[in-house]
Amino acid sequence: MLSKEQILELLQPLQEPQLGVSLTELGWVRDVMVKENHVALNMVTLENRSEDTTALSDAARNLLSQHGIKDVHIRLRAASEHDRESLNMRQPEDEPDPDEVLVKGHAAGLDGHALLSPESGVRFIAVASGKGGVGKSTVTVNLAAALARQGKKVGLIDADIYGFSVPDMMGIEEYPVVEDGVIQPVERFGVKVMSMGFFIRENNPVIWRGPMLGRMLRQFFTDVQWGELDYMLLDLPPGTGDVALDVHQMLPHSKEIIVTTPHATAAFVAARAGAMAIQTDHELLGVVENMAYYECGSCGEKDYVFGRGGGGRLAESLHTGLLAQIPLGTPDNHPSEPDFSPSVYKADSRIGAIYDEVARSIESKF
Ligand SMILES: Nc1ncnc2c1ncn2[C@@H]1O[C@H](COP(=O)(O)OP(=O)(O)OP(=O)(O)O)[C@@H](O)[C@H]1O
Ligand SMILES: [Mg+2]
Repeated sequence: MLSKEQILELLQPLQEPQLGVSLTELGWVRDVMVKENHVALNMVTLENRSEDTTALSDAARNLLSQHGIKDVHIRLRAASEHDRESLNMRQPEDEPDPDEVLVKGHAAGLDGHALLSPESGVRFIAVASGKGGVGKSTVTVNLAAALARQGKKVGLIDADIYGFSVPDMMGIEEYPVVEDGVIQPVERFGVKVMSMGFFIRENNPVIWRGPMLGRMLRQFFTDVQWGELDYMLLDLPPGTGDVALDVHQMLPHSKEIIVTTPHATAAFVAARAGAMAIQTDHELLGVVENMAYYECGSCGEKDYVFGRGGGGRLAESLHTGLLAQIPLGTPDNHPSEPDFSPSVYKADSRIGAIYDEVARSIESKF
């Protein structure tokens, strides 16, 4: 007869369908009762969706029957508020080995570390901001697209692991392909993209904590087949907290762009991001002032709705230049178009042309 502990051990491979984390490690296989060859147990999942629960109980029965236990009674229920809260309190050592979450690129002989070494020749550009919502991701995505339009080989890592948005902004609907244990980035508008969003199902909030996130992000460098690259752009997490600092330190030789809005306090906050860049020895390429003004379509007059001059003042205080002032405006594409992407401005649009100019001016700064 197997013990309760042995049963849990056998069920270790079962994963919570949405989190991709072992159910037994979560403590979500419970009330295991063993009586001769009869086993009864309860399992908890984030949501009680019938397709998931059927697959899970089948998998559990399968694992147990391989050890001669055929008489199994399983009850499934959805996680309670308390269960969900306990997820957030999990200690780092309880966290899954990222190698199990992503595939093992090293095994396939992929020498991804080379990407982070100065000899790689790849020009890293980290895009940072002091606070959220200023258009950091928009700037990253459009600068990447503009560099690709100029024939550059461009990679983009969505390093905003908690708040990934790049796949949606670029209208990416496919997932990375894994070939021989190596992840192939998704290509869109000539830009190779990697994002945590590809690994999180159905917009579940990311519950992994700092150390795990750091490892995950590191794998974006080491286990992804980027191929030859001229530029690697990084959409950094907003602000100047731990996550942002971790990412900064991971990149020993990156240059940096600071995004701000023209509002005085926004620029003041962004200055902290600039200070962090300097602290990590990241040379500043310059400041992008986003949402700089609204231009009247019929009369061409500029309305400085969010104030004026914040970007210029910030650039001055950081001893760098103002790369661009990008007006307010929505990309004029439509969901019915095959290359629909909510946040990418077309090359022939006014804002697209501004990004082309930024891309050219950056070229001369390396
Ligand atoms: N120039 C612009 N004109 C109009 N809307 C814009 C402009 N730039 C960005 N936006 C919009 O503002 C919102 C915030 O932009 P974005 O997500 O790029 O900011 P962020 O700094 O990356 O935010 P977060 O901190 O959430 O990551 C988005 O809805 C985006 O489409
Ligand atoms: Mg963002």
